[in-house]
Amino acid sequence: MAKARVAVLISGTGTNMAALLYAAKADDCPYEIVLVASNNPDAAGLKLAEAEGIATFAHSHKGLSREAHDDIMHEALVAAKTDYVALAGYMRILSPEFVGQWEGRMLNIHPSLLPKYKGLHTHERAIEAGDSHGGCSVHLVTAELDDGPILGQTPVAILPGDTSDSLAARVLIAEHQLYSRVLSDYVARETSPDFLVQQVRERAMALPEADEVVSHGMPCFGIIKGKKFAYVSLDHHGDGKTALLVKISGPDEQAQLIEIDSERYYRPAYFGDGWIAMRLDLGLNDWDEIDRWLARSWHAVAPKKLAALAEFIA
Ligand code: GAR
Repeated sequence: MAKARVAVLISGTGTNMAALLYAAKADDCPYEIVLVASNNPDAAGLKLAEAEGIATFAHSHKGLSREAHDDIMHEALVAAKTDYVALAGYMRILSPEFVGQWEGRMLNIHPSLLPKYKGLHTHERAIEAGDSHGGCSVHLVTAELDDGPILGQTPVAILPGDTSDSLAARVLIAEHQLYSRVLSDYVARETSPDFLVQQVRERAMALPEADEVVSHGMPCFGIIKGKKFAYVSLDHHGDGKTALLVKISGPDEQAQLIEIDSERYYRPAYFGDGWIAMRLDLGLNDWDEIDRWLARSWHAVAPKKLAALAEFIA
């Protein structure tokens, strides 16, 4: 299985970046660091990344509009064939465009138990409020600052006499443990059978009059009292694959798809020429495209009246 390609954006010391980088050295780590980039050409973390043989990129934001700087960073990420972006002490507010370009693929670590203490001076605020714990959170990045779905958190006890520096130092230890674990789970989730079946289920069941049954151990989607339009093949005869099976026009299209991408597409055993199997477990699925495959397959089996009604509603 190819590892997910992660770029880390930093502004300063980069200890979280280092934690991600060293965790990635494990053979079974599902991601690799392909780029460390910064808005600060003097960021100490860049030198460490270089010494570890990781590609780096730096471009100061000074004198540039937020959008112009984000565009430059975005280009560098795309050039490095980045799948996921990990913000690790990247002290920039991001433009909505940039966030949108990496929606669902950009994570951030924040030194508080979100939703508490967004923004700066998090430890100071936790101590002043008399909290029993500070901590850290990893979340998906959305247009709102330090908002977005929380993927993992670690509470860190506040000790009597703690200063913001002493608390920050302990929270940083927790950050280093948390980030690589959450990032690993997040990138691996996209190839896990449960996640993939759930993604297909949500999409297939959104089609008119769809229902689900289990057929030969495969989740199988059809039109109520009608024909089936999609199956999910799960480790069929121990092949280790998770694949979506949908209807296509026939043998020519089947052969063509397999020729275009023989890793992703294959002829599903026992289904004949009218179906194609597409692997979902290779990572980075285009779910909009899968939506279209499902809709097309649904149309291929839907009774004319129902299809016409669906067109009308759409
Ligand atoms: C970390 O504590 C991180 O949580 C925080 O900056 C520090 C960076 O340290 N990030 C934020 O405050 C973002 N809102 P590092 O450069 O050593 O990883």
